[in-house]
Amino acid sequence: MRVLVGITGGVAAYKAAEVIRELTESGHEVRAVPTANALRFIGAPTLEALTHNSVHSELYEDVEDVRHIELAQWAELILVAPATASFLARTVSGIADDLLGNIVLASKAPLVIAPAMHTEMWLNSATVTNVAKLRERGVMVIDPAVGRLTGNDTGVGRLPDPAYIVQSALSKVVAKDLAGKKVLVVAGGTREAIDPVRFIGNRSSGKQGIALVEEAVARGADVQLVAANFSYYSPEVQVTSVTSTSDLITALGKLGNNFDFVIMPAAVSDYRVANPSAKKVKKSDMGSSLQLSLIENPDVVSQLAKDVRTANASAKIVGFAAETTSADTLLQLAQTKLAKKGLDLVVANEVSDTLGFDQDTNEVILVSADKQTQVSGSKRAIAKAIFDAINQ
Ligand code: CTP
Repeated sequence: MRVLVGITGGVAAYKAAEVIRELTESGHEVRAVPTANALRFIGAPTLEALTHNSVHSELYEDVEDVRHIELAQWAELILVAPATASFLARTVSGIADDLLGNIVLASKAPLVIAPAMHTEMWLNSATVTNVAKLRERGVMVIDPAVGRLTGNDTGVGRLPDPAYIVQSALSKVVAKDLAGKKVLVVAGGTREAIDPVRFIGNRSSGKQGIALVEEAVARGADVQLVAANFSYYSPEVQVTSVTSTSDLITALGKLGNNFDFVIMPAAVSDYRVANPSAKKVKKSDMGSSLQLSLIENPDVVSQLAKDVRTANASAKIVGFAAETTSADTLLQLAQTKLAKKGLDLVVANEVSDTLGFDQDTNEVILVSADKQTQVSGSKRAIAKAIFDAINQ
């Protein structure tokens, strides 16, 4: 998507760099339009480097190109972050006295505004009225977060997390093709206790799961997340936190089987400790060589696939396969897992120090019974490709 990022003059302007990065890493094309005051806080070269596009700020520059109309027509979405109180007031009144104001007035693209200012300014009745008027006109105004402000004070008015801004903005323009669908995402990595202090675990961060949740929410789904050993909060998502594989199985039992899509990037521990100790085991008691007795855990996704399909025959179940192997063997292993676990799709990837776990990007193959599709990019782009593949 072609996203025009407007930046106005506040200290939070430096966070626009992060907003742009989030967008470009998700595969969007970005052009930045800072106001003259925004350029007091963030430099045009930074914005040019991050957008890979030239940056325009002046209305009376390259007038022969009719820049404000060119940019207004180019944009499929306009996101202004941060927006000052003054920008809100000028937008409400249709004042077009700089390049950004002209673009906003001339564009038919959806407009999303992320204000940031001191609490007193945000709560001032002039700002409250302006925000209400913008929302009445269909503009999405993202509420500022509560936290540390520019001075020593704390309160509402802080620019929210850039990833949250981008997610909210994109949700305004994404087709709601998962509306009415129930999605279960099971993510993270289970941990098996050795004693109250130690556990057997794995490198899964939950990042792919979060990207799947955010993509599903943006597309209108009703989403449940089971999170193994990572935290996630969104008012739109029901989150169940689990630690061990046994907790995970109990949590799934409570959630029932009424889902249209189950997506399971979770790294489930294949074994659990036979006799975890109730007390911390002292090293002096363990000696120089330690033997742990392990018991195999059930294959969670295989059972889940059966249970969910009994409740809803057309449900789609997606598993993952992270392997340290060559591309040819990766495909074979994915096809074997697809058949053995009764899945509709396996998302397979090679794991190395720079690929897979705890990274923001990945390279995967989506393997179904009749098709293989390579996808690379951000975990959000991979989440999009997964839903595109199963929601047909
Ligand atoms: N999985 C599961 N329960 C397990 C092990 C894995 O539900 N006890 C799920 C994972 O969530 C993933 C898929 O099965 O979606 C594949 O996981 P993976 O660890 O690659 O497969 P394993 O069956 O454990 O095979 P191996 O470790 O030998 O590759």
